[in-house]
Amino acid sequence: MGLFDGKVAIVTGAGRGIGRSEALLLGAEGAAVVVNDLGAARTGDGSDQRPAQEVVDEIVAAGGKAVANYDDISTWSGGENIVKRAVGELGGLDVLINNAGILRDKMSFNMDEDEWDSVIQVHLKGHFAPSRFAAQYWRAKSKETGEPTGAAIVNTTSESGLYGNAGQVNYAAAKAGIGAMTIVLARELERAGVRVNAIAPVARTRLTEDLAGDAMKPQEGSWDKFAPENPAAAACWLASDLAQGISGQVVKVQGGVLQIVQGWRPIAEAHANDVWTIESIAAQRDTLFATADPGIPPFILQTLFAGEG
Ligand SMILES: NC(=O)c1ccc[n+]([C@@H]2O[C@H](COP(=O)([O-])OP(=O)(O)OC[C@H]3O[C@@H](n4cnc5c(N)ncnc54)[C@H](O)[C@@H]3O)[C@@H](O)[C@H]2O)c1
Repeated sequence: MGLFDGKVAIVTGAGRGIGRSEALLLGAEGAAVVVNDLGAARTGDGSDQRPAQEVVDEIVAAGGKAVANYDDISTWSGGENIVKRAVGELGGLDVLINNAGILRDKMSFNMDEDEWDSVIQVHLKGHFAPSRFAAQYWRAKSKETGEPTGAAIVNTTSESGLYGNAGQVNYAAAKAGIGAMTIVLARELERAGVRVNAIAPVARTRLTEDLAGDAMKPQEGSWDKFAPENPAAAACWLASDLAQGISGQVVKVQGGVLQIVQGWRPIAEAHANDVWTIESIAAQRDTLFATADPGIPPFILQTLFAGEG
């Protein structure tokens, strides 16, 4: 008996890293999996069918069911195709894990248009395009049956977007957008019985290997805290019926620590009885910042370099 017996799942960017671990876990738990991967380089360039096919082969060799898909999920047609593939070939869709991603880091003053566009496209549009067609499928299904679908989307955000990492303005903007998209989709799809959550992972993959140096390597005498299987377990838990009732949430996974992370909220307020003016607002400065530092918020990325993991 697997947690996903009889269910159909899509994982984008599942040829490597965290997505690969998610696809293998879903397959081992009984899901039929569409293993999507364009086979791009870390920067998004190029394509290669082998990573997706190898993951399919691993799932099938372990007795599971999977098909490969090589679409670029940052295109509208790619998003549509993978949903059609799941429904047409595997008989439906229950789980969508949006995971594919690339990095093209630069400081804002050095970034070029292509570095901006490609990262926004792969992450932000690459999360929305499959979600849009999955949402259409689930809405129609719940209208037809009159029942909630019990389906789930799990998105992949990042501390970089939640807290704002310098040097990653393109990536952080996309990942913050994915945080907002998670809440909007959760609200919009609630009536169809679809839960929508996100993970903020920390793992040793090719995206992080040259950033983290040895900090993410397995340490002797300790369990492998940065193995991609670690965040994959959180994503698959959120996708499963064990997470019923949980929607619109972001779960950060770093080593042995899980955190629920919630975002923008009012922390102070001031009041006026007439149209605000620059001067009347300036007069409220001390009220507005009575409990908060008026400077740039601290970057609370307590990850790799801070010890715990
Ligand atoms: N590794 C970390 O510590 C970490 C931290 C925060 C967020 N994330 C996020 O986790 C996700 C997975 O990253 P990873 O670390 O496993 O990286 P990875 O490079 O190992 O895997 C990403 C996969 O996505 C695929 N991909 C890229 N563009 C694609 C496209 N347009 N269509 C289909 N597939 C595409 C790549 O071919 C690759 O196999 C990303 O969204 C990343 O931003 C990772």
